Amino acid sequence: MTTTITTTMTKHILRPGCNYYRGYAAAYYAPTTNRKEPVSMRPYGNTLTDLVVDEERQALLKEISLNLPDVTLNERQLFDIELLANGAFSPLRGFMTSADYESVLDRMRLQDGTLWPIPVCLDVSETLAERLEVGQSLGLRDPEGFLLAVMHIEDIWPVDHRKEALQVYGTDNEEHPGVHYLFHRVENFYIGGSVEVISPPLHPDFKQIRLTPEEIRNACRKLGWNRMVGFITRNPIHRPQFEMTLQAMRQAKANLLILPIVGATRPGDFDHYTRVRCYREVARHYPPASYLLNLLPLAARMAGPRTALMHVIIARNYGCTHFIIGRDHAGPGMNGAGIPFYPPEAANQLTETHSEEIGITIVPFKEMVYLPFEDEYRGLDQVPAGTQTISLSGSEIRKRIRQGRQVPEWATFPEVIAELLKAYPPPRKQGVTIFLTGLSGAGKSTIAKVLFSRFLEIGDRPVTLLDGDIVRRNLSRELTFSKEHRDINVRRIGFVASEITKNRGIAICAPIAPYRATRNEIRKTIEAYGGFIEVHVATPIEECESRDRKGMYAKARAGLIKGFTGVDDPYESPRSPEVTIDTTHLRPDEAAQEVMLVMGQKGYI
Ligand code: PPS
Repeated sequence: MTTTITTTMTKHILRPGCNYYRGYAAAYYAPTTNRKEPVSMRPYGNTLTDLVVDEERQALLKEISLNLPDVTLNERQLFDIELLANGAFSPLRGFMTSADYESVLDRMRLQDGTLWPIPVCLDVSETLAERLEVGQSLGLRDPEGFLLAVMHIEDIWPVDHRKEALQVYGTDNEEHPGVHYLFHRVENFYIGGSVEVISPPLHPDFKQIRLTPEEIRNACRKLGWNRMVGFITRNPIHRPQFEMTLQAMRQAKANLLILPIVGATRPGDFDHYTRVRCYREVARHYPPASYLLNLLPLAARMAGPRTALMHVIIARNYGCTHFIIGRDHAGPGMNGAGIPFYPPEAANQLTETHSEEIGITIVPFKEMVYLPFEDEYRGLDQVPAGTQTISLSGSEIRKRIRQGRQVPEWATFPEVIAELLKAYPPPRKQGVTIFLTGLSGAGKSTIAKVLFSRFLEIGDRPVTLLDGDIVRRNLSRELTFSKEHRDINVRRIGFVASEITKNRGIAICAPIAPYRATRNEIRKTIEAYGGFIEVHVATPIEECESRDRKGMYAKARAGLIKGFTGVDDPYESPRSPEVTIDTTHLRPDEAAQEVMLVMGQKGYI
């Protein structure tokens, strides 16, 4: 339970005489440090913010936080607070107020005129917003309940999701992952205000390459680097990106800072563990001591030109003097109609327009293409007319890896392919879920049992049978057959199946799973880890009822069982299952054979 802090206590936290007073708009962008460094490498707004308070203040905030309301930060908010804390978002000193937010939406500037392209706001539910007041402080906690920071609320306002989508992303098309997130994940209220950080979120992985902007700047000073070109990416570095970074280093006469985005990226992107192993392999191909590789805990918004501008600001805060902008930088590619969300050169144009103001030189690149006869990469604008060129996009490489198809060596490094294949093996080595759905008595369990034996015979992957009855007995004993409970039951099956699939086993599930939306939700989760074969056991109800092995239909018709699927509860047929089987005139092994054939066709066996 949370309690609300009294006004007196709020004043106590924020009293202006206090050393750590950081509240309210006047102090919002105030300088904290003032180092001597080449003008060209100074942070954005000249000073690097550091929102982590000292031990004495931490102790005080922790004590006071016991009486404060609090909020658990979600994944994106955790990444945002980390970049606010370490100064990558300098000069921001907290989550934006409505005046800054509106100003950013309308003119890409904070209220004081500082160029800033993307809102950095804290969204909260309406229920929480109703309990909060301006002038109050709020504990910001991680999902384990650990206190990360205290925010001093200066503003609370309702979110206009559509306006934000149109202004920031230039579209309200939900196929855009940023817009989708905004419409489906961002809550209905924003709160703004300065933040005092007690402990930035911790990451147990790759600690040696999670340096703050300040630490990167110190490393540069120590190395005597005066010019550094930044490269921010959420994809593995393949040959075109490698060539682009090398050419940029030569053009800018600079060292390289690779900042891979390891915050939330796009669903379907390669996971960051795999990508970091790839970056380390690629890094061996740069001249020794010419680069730094450092992880950027940024939640990707993929707003194309506006995000590109954000990247430039972040890079400047890490000490870059130059920044690489490639074709369609930070864009999410194309919409469903095959039209790019942003013109390929839009990011280049916007960043070039503002580069002087940000204080960084843009190193722009056109699409990099491979010239097979010359065995080299060039920007498309450097290729003489009539020269043969080929190219393979990052998404095409990703698709090939997932389908177990070859990726040529001119497209990426063999070490990168090896790493990607280790993490994303071809279908015959991936985990897979076979999800049989259909009415009671349709034949799901019988087919499932035959499939179970077949996979045991093949013996190349561990197999688990999650039959409806088995699950109800072991996992879902307390559940009824209400819509809500059926959904819980089916989601539990989906969760277990996704874990099995993730660990490269075969999960055979056979619940009724009558609701389409729940089945689709499970499909989405499982497909992130491996295969999902939906088998609609479409035996008609008349046949199921005539079999009535358990006498359930008779009871349901007699009104002794309420809400029986197909009788007085709906069954929503799958729209595009991988396999449809009517067992009316099919033996169990013939039905199982149909599933095995599709498995073979898709390369899973
Ligand atoms: S669900 O909807 O997916 O949660 O159902 P499931 O876990 O597969 O359980 C289905 C079996 O439970 C018996 N049963 C019922 N089925 C449908 N509706 C109602 N109201 C109901 N009550 C009990 C039924 O025998 C199902 O067994 P199968 O093996 O499918 O015939």
